[in-house]
Amino acid sequence: MKIVIKIGGSLIQLGEEIDLELISKYAEVIRRLKREGHKLVIVVGGGVIARKYIETMRKLKAPESVCDLLGIKIARLNAYILISAIRNDVYPKVPETLEEAISVFSMGKIVVMGGLQPGQSTNAVAALLAESIRADILVNATTVDGVYTAPPETPGAKKLDQVTTDQLMEIMQSSTEFKAGEYRLFDPLAILIVRRARLPVKIIDGRDPQNILKAIRGEKVGTTVIP
Ligand code: UTP
Repeated sequence: MKIVIKIGGSLIQLGEEIDLELISKYAEVIRRLKREGHKLVIVVGGGVIARKYIETMRKLKAPESVCDLLGIKIARLNAYILISAIRNDVYPKVPETLEEAISVFSMGKIVVMGGLQPGQSTNAVAALLAESIRADILVNATTVDGVYTAPPETPGAKKLDQVTTDQLMEIMQSSTEFKAGEYRLFDPLAILIVRRARLPVKIIDGRDPQNILKAIRGEKVGTTVIP
């Protein structure tokens, strides 16, 4: 299978610390999928560190797009950490354009990406890559166990086993703002790409990387997005 995995930046960071134990578990799951013959693109987010930089830039009255640029760079740095953890069969550089990522993917190496351009999140990067390589599945590993009707901490919020792109758009627009560091879970561009490319997407609890294997094997886990 051609698989795109998005790993939320906040997953691999415990506060300001980088969670090397979880990163190693991810690297092991990725190596295993590669050994099984799958073709892989991994996209890593910017997490808490990106948000710290974005907040600081915002205090300095930097434009949102410049704040985004820092988020993009931090996500790329996180991608380099994952590359070091995977070690073999992985392209040693983080591609900085979609074109570069596609051509590296075609050479059979595992591709690890960070951000691409302002105005979106790394979820949009994952959706664009999944569309470009005609991925069989896009697995979004995050810090919650799926999509909820409202932010999960809200009283009465319910977890959904399935969600349409229209529902997802509504939930995201009511709970997130369109600014750097805040394009949570699925930003509008990511949803539009999923819809137009009819991408099969699973949103799963990435605190246990084994859930990625479950999603790929078609087991019941997380939330399935119906494109
Ligand atoms: P993400 O918001 O995608 O990181 O990127 P994340 O940590 O994975 O988010 P969670 O864990 O899913 O919530 C960090 C920031 O970098 C900028 C945005 O400001 C984004 O919020 N960014 C990232 C871009 O502007 N363009 C990109 O292509 C990627």
